[in-house]
Amino acid sequence: MKKSILYFIILLISFVTGNAQNSTIPSSIENVEVKIDSVLSMMTLEEKVGQLVQYNGSWDLTGPASEMNSKEKEDNLKKGLVGSMLNVYSVEGTREAQKLVMENSRMKIPLIFGYDVIHGYKTIFPVPLGETASWDLEAMERSARIAAIESVANGVNWTFSPMIDVSRDARWGRIMESSGEDPYLTSLVGVAKIKGYQGDDLSDNLTIAATAKHFAGYGFAEAGRDYNTVNLGENELHNTVLPPFKAAAEAGVATFMNSFNEIDGIPSTGNKYLQRDILKGDWNWRGFMVSDWASIPEMIYHGIAKDKKHASEIAINAGSDMDMEGGAYESSLAELVKEGSVDEALVDDAVKRVLRVKFKLGLFDDPYKYSNPEVAKNISFEEHRKAAREIAAKSIVLLKNKNELLPIKPSIKSIAVIGPLANDKDTPIGNWRAQGESNSAISVVEGIKNAVGKNTQVNYALGTSLGISERSFLLPLEINNSDKSQFKEAIELAKTSEMVVMVLGEDAFQSGEGRSQAKIGLAGLQQELLAEIKKVNNNIVLVLINGRPMEISWASENIPAIVVAWQLGSESGNAIADVLFGKYNPSGKLPVSFPRLVGQEPLYYNQKNTGRPWNEQHVTYSHYTDVKKDALYPFGFGLSYTQFEYGDIELSGSEMNLDGQILAEVKITNTGKVKGKEVVQLYLQDVVGSRTRPVKELKGFQLVELETGETRTVSFPITPKMLEFYTANRKREVEDGDFNVFIGGNSIDLKTTKFSFKH
Ligand code: BGC
Repeated sequence: MKKSILYFIILLISFVTGNAQNSTIPSSIENVEVKIDSVLSMMTLEEKVGQLVQYNGSWDLTGPASEMNSKEKEDNLKKGLVGSMLNVYSVEGTREAQKLVMENSRMKIPLIFGYDVIHGYKTIFPVPLGETASWDLEAMERSARIAAIESVANGVNWTFSPMIDVSRDARWGRIMESSGEDPYLTSLVGVAKIKGYQGDDLSDNLTIAATAKHFAGYGFAEAGRDYNTVNLGENELHNTVLPPFKAAAEAGVATFMNSFNEIDGIPSTGNKYLQRDILKGDWNWRGFMVSDWASIPEMIYHGIAKDKKHASEIAINAGSDMDMEGGAYESSLAELVKEGSVDEALVDDAVKRVLRVKFKLGLFDDPYKYSNPEVAKNISFEEHRKAAREIAAKSIVLLKNKNELLPIKPSIKSIAVIGPLANDKDTPIGNWRAQGESNSAISVVEGIKNAVGKNTQVNYALGTSLGISERSFLLPLEINNSDKSQFKEAIELAKTSEMVVMVLGEDAFQSGEGRSQAKIGLAGLQQELLAEIKKVNNNIVLVLINGRPMEISWASENIPAIVVAWQLGSESGNAIADVLFGKYNPSGKLPVSFPRLVGQEPLYYNQKNTGRPWNEQHVTYSHYTDVKKDALYPFGFGLSYTQFEYGDIELSGSEMNLDGQILAEVKITNTGKVKGKEVVQLYLQDVVGSRTRPVKELKGFQLVELETGETRTVSFPITPKMLEFYTANRKREVEDGDFNVFIGGNSIDLKTTKFSFKH
């Protein structure tokens, strides 16, 4: 994955001569739109198409590479036939590539450099699914801010993040890049990330352009298999999939990326309804749409385009503006215009969108502003690591804590830290790690050693490996382990220790792109090891390192304490120790349901009632005969070292109309022994609609911190806007009728009341 000095860039450097020049655009013209038109009017058709071409700059591939060799790519850069590069990530590399364009091309339109900065650039934060478990929007904005600064320091001015695909299937590997199953939470996280990356002003030297991806429906792949067909009805599309994208568009996200999947027979890349009618039409969004990696020519495999030329025609008509490493636009778009199959106005519109983002970034004022070695000198990595530790601790979810086994008492004499991920310094870095170094995370063993006093013995045993020999972003993963030779040492250690911390879960590359799994339990011999250890020591805390919800029914039944620690990034082990020893009282809540069995997937709390919802011992209702239908741990769930008691909900009224609002208030008391933070959640249910409605939907949440014994009143204003949905009239509106209100600390244990709405 990481080859920082790129072969291609080395080639580029060798061809560069002369000094940087500024663009040909007169700086006296202030208005960006006037500038854009002025640039466009000077461009040839080939130069226009060039702005819609994006080349990969390294071997850091996330799909099949283009057939073009580096020399050809470089010649095209010089001719001004390329608008952007991805995967060029160094001050020197971006400067050299930019020079090729600025010193040789006629129009001197600067390149924009994109990169997958997904959960940190060098300082790595929790994987997005994990970070969302913090429900702390400020913290999430901050980690994006830090990622932006570190990106800029390395020449990158555009991230392909946030991924705001609502994701409800634990089998889908890319669930780790998502914010989970809820559209409202996903919307807020997406907006926080966009704010973090883009700041208030895209032209600021320390902000970068963000990307809302993947438009749309990518998280709904059938059977959780990546890239698979999506069948999504209009109702689900508008009520579940699109809201986070609408929020991103409204937040001013600079770019969108479309998705690999088809919906109902139309690949998203060629979907005019999504891209032109909704995004650029109804929502009036003015940024540009980059294709996903080669998703334009992939329409040939979809069986909707005859060849690359046909694929280009479909894509540009549908509103895909930039071709990521697909080689389709560059080989056929100009020809399509010349022969009259594509209206040049569509190309012009796409080019204007690309130029708009480049102007906003300030690239026309200074094409090299992001290739500035001075930026790196001012970065305090220490500060960034501190932030990474804080947000990692906030992301941890305590699922079970029988007999208050946690927090670990300082008086403890000995701790056995056991498991394949206990001393793993790499897996916490996760997939999509940008320039996060391999093996650079604090391991759990290290974190615990850092935390204990000198009277506590900390011993480590592997127990079993995950059985993965070679791991990388691109290699297929095989988990194959039947070697029990290290069981004995681990069991002996557990026997002689006061307590066991078992660190199990998934390898970094078990989740991510192309990493779908039909099994989501503890792979290899981990489950067996856990059962053996339990036989000799019952004081076990299971620390799960995971990029997806896992099947942990046995552990949930048999292990007294369970902590979900995701892949937490650079400071993983320290953050885990902060929680295990009570330095941080856990406050994370699941952004995604944990199933009892994988066969329940896709599983999500905001499901529909069905015509047969009841819970009776009768065959003909919606259930499974071999497992309960609900989640093992539901959305919004997470324990604390203290307890919170909720009073009844009080509403300021029982009827609302379009001009009104109702205040829902609830009193919460910290009834436990320590100070703690609770995520108070508000859900609503529209009881009868012109289309069926979910059993409940998250509509608000607040983080409150309470001292022991403290009571606080938490208020949620409920407005008509919150009651809207995409109705039978094919628009978002609120309908008359009854609404149930639920408030509580997870999506199941809730206080409830109701009100009605009338226009
Ligand atoms: C992924 C995108 C990513 C792109 C560039 C694709 O395979 O689906 O999310 O941004 O590669 O690396």
